[in-house]
Amino acid sequence: MGDGAAQRLLLNHGPTRLKGPGLTDQAQPTRFSDQEFDNMKLLAISGSTRRESTNTALLMAMQDYLPPGAELSVVAWLDKLPVFSPDAEHGALPAPVARFIELVSRADGIIIASPEYVHALPGGLKNAIDWMVSRFEVIGKPIAIAHASHRGEDMLASLRLVLSTISEGFLDSAFLRIPLVGKSPEDVKTTLQTPDNEAAITQFLATVVASIRSTLTPATPAPASPPESR
Ligand SMILES: Cc1cc2nc3c(=O)[nH]c(=O)nc-3n(C[C@H](O)[C@H](O)[C@H](O)COP(=O)(O)O)c2cc1C
Repeated sequence: MGDGAAQRLLLNHGPTRLKGPGLTDQAQPTRFSDQEFDNMKLLAISGSTRRESTNTALLMAMQDYLPPGAELSVVAWLDKLPVFSPDAEHGALPAPVARFIELVSRADGIIIASPEYVHALPGGLKNAIDWMVSRFEVIGKPIAIAHASHRGEDMLASLRLVLSTISEGFLDSAFLRIPLVGKSPEDVKTTLQTPDNEAAITQFLATVVASIRSTLTPATPAPASPPESR
């Protein structure tokens, strides 16, 4: 998003700028033109810190299928965040947490892809979410889920509950699933490049970006200044 558009959104709405499903609708959002989203920033967060993670590979591959005007960066280092404690929220944040929060803050939307560990969210992902939960940066942030497994329903159900709790911008209807469990990096690459999977990734990203655009509210035009009296 261009600085101008971001500035106007902040001025008008502060960090919470979505017309979420549960919010009262005093001002109907209007769609921006593509030009006003010359730099939409997506932050992709992997719940796996495994070197050959299929979830991270899926997120990385998305960079090749972005709609024009969107960019995506991947965070696959949640193991760098210390264990959350409310006590640690007072004073300066630990450097990796500050960096993570900064990336969340700058993002126009977030995509999370995570494995299931023992029928639940991996601890590192839950820890990262706990760091965000009492902060304003994530409020109203559009968040979508992608998943690199044909299994993991318990984790997905829990993640949906957690994300819809922390952000009214949770995009439940945008969901991408491409089973990659147990595949080598080469097999992952080949699988992601099949026409069906390329189409699915493209469609998912188009839906996420369109959802973000449709929920952002434009600035109210500044009142015209009166003609100067002489
Ligand atoms: C500690 C641990 C627990 C796991 N528990 C489950 C589980 O409960 N359900 C499941 O479907 N897979 C489970 N798995 C398998 C992973 O979810 C699966 O291998 C996934 O594809 C790994 O994702 P990644 O390639 O992004 O690291 C577990 C793996 C590990 C290491």
